Amino acid sequence: MAEVNYVRGLAGVVADESRICTIDGVKGELYYYGYPIQVLAEKSSFMEISFLLLNGKLPANRQELASFEKELSSHREIPGFVESIIKAFPKEAHPMSSLQAVVATMGMQEPESLNDTLEGNRTRAIRLTAMFPTLVAYIHRHRMGQEFIRPRQDLSHAANFLYMLNGQVPSAQIEKMFDICLILHAEHTFNASTFAGRVIGSTLANLYASVSGAVGALFGPLHGGANEMALEMVKSIGSVEKADPWFADTVSKKKKIMGMGHRVYKTIDPRAKIIRRMLEELAHQKGETTGLKILDRLAELMRKKLEGTGKEIWPNVDFYSGSLYTLMGIDSINFTPIFAISRITGWSAHILELWSDNRLYRPKAQYVGEKDLPFLPIDAR
Ligand SMILES: CC(C)(COP(=O)(O)OP(=O)(O)OC[C@H]1O[C@@H](n2cnc3c(N)ncnc32)[C@H](O)[C@@H]1OP(=O)(O)O)[C@@H](O)C(=O)NCCC(=O)NCCS
Repeated sequence: MAEVNYVRGLAGVVADESRICTIDGVKGELYYYGYPIQVLAEKSSFMEISFLLLNGKLPANRQELASFEKELSSHREIPGFVESIIKAFPKEAHPMSSLQAVVATMGMQEPESLNDTLEGNRTRAIRLTAMFPTLVAYIHRHRMGQEFIRPRQDLSHAANFLYMLNGQVPSAQIEKMFDICLILHAEHTFNASTFAGRVIGSTLANLYASVSGAVGALFGPLHGGANEMALEMVKSIGSVEKADPWFADTVSKKKKIMGMGHRVYKTIDPRAKIIRRMLEELAHQKGETTGLKILDRLAELMRKKLEGTGKEIWPNVDFYSGSLYTLMGIDSINFTPIFAISRITGWSAHILELWSDNRLYRPKAQYVGEKDLPFLPIDAR
């Protein structure tokens, strides 16, 4: 007998107010602080989006953006003790486990009173945004048994990351595409990792504790981990001819297709459309179109299967991103850490917003267990 109404998985539940982002899941629209994602992807840069998310408004002019970028990039180096910790991690660890652990350590050199001022925490968020690419690149190179490549101040956020990861400065085209991917992943309302970060932040635990919890939530295959799984799926299918039997088999076993479906979107994810366009451009340029063809065929098969059923399962942002990153020369194990390099801005924006008028998150559970059971002391059982 239900004591209160409740919704499993909190689907559709409005848990708080926020000005940062909104999604129209039926129309397939996404806005950061009121600006449509398509426009931001076309006309903005990840640095400008970071400013927007951390300040709640766009930079007033080029000078303000340039000084923000200069400040942020000056924080790319990570503390020496954090470097030593990365070097001590087992090489076989998944980089998301390493990232979560290392973020938790980053507050250790901070004074106890972390939630002192909004400005203090905004500076910490800027530093985390600057350091995430370095952390992810160092974790990767440690796993590969390679020397760390120190950050360069003369490169953009996107180019510097790819340089630290692979040792090569990317072409202008790849730099731009990667920057757009960072814009697209920066923020997405109360997704699982952001909500996890807000829950931790609402206890007034510090920014590092909140962000490391968010990284842990992003790791899961139902959330950020889906892009890695989507690429594994494409690889295991192998050719477009095998897409139909693979789809039939997967559906008959009631298995999920990674990179499809969404809790909020009931149409194609607007970010997926933008990533697909970039994938198409790069795939044709490189003459490597098999992945794209497999993905397109799977999307078509899903559309046909659901026609007239009222069910809506469409490609989400993770469907195409893994194939695009692969063409950029990035290993699949780094896809979710790259998501984190971008989403650190959204997580921080939410935690700062919450702290401007904090209330502890503490929902109730629908209790379905028993009560008043007789307790037998252990020796009498
Ligand atoms: C994202 C996700 C967890 C949202 O799901 P949700 O709102 O909880 O919806 P459910 O998992 O309850 O699915 C509802 C129905 O759609 C089906 N469905 C949802 N996503 C599916 C997918 N990717 N492939 C096949 N079927 C899917 C479910 O099997 C279920 O069918 P049923 O009603 O016959 O049982 C889910 O779509 C999913 O697991 N997708 C794959 C992982 C992924 O891409 N995650 C990244 C999200 S950005």
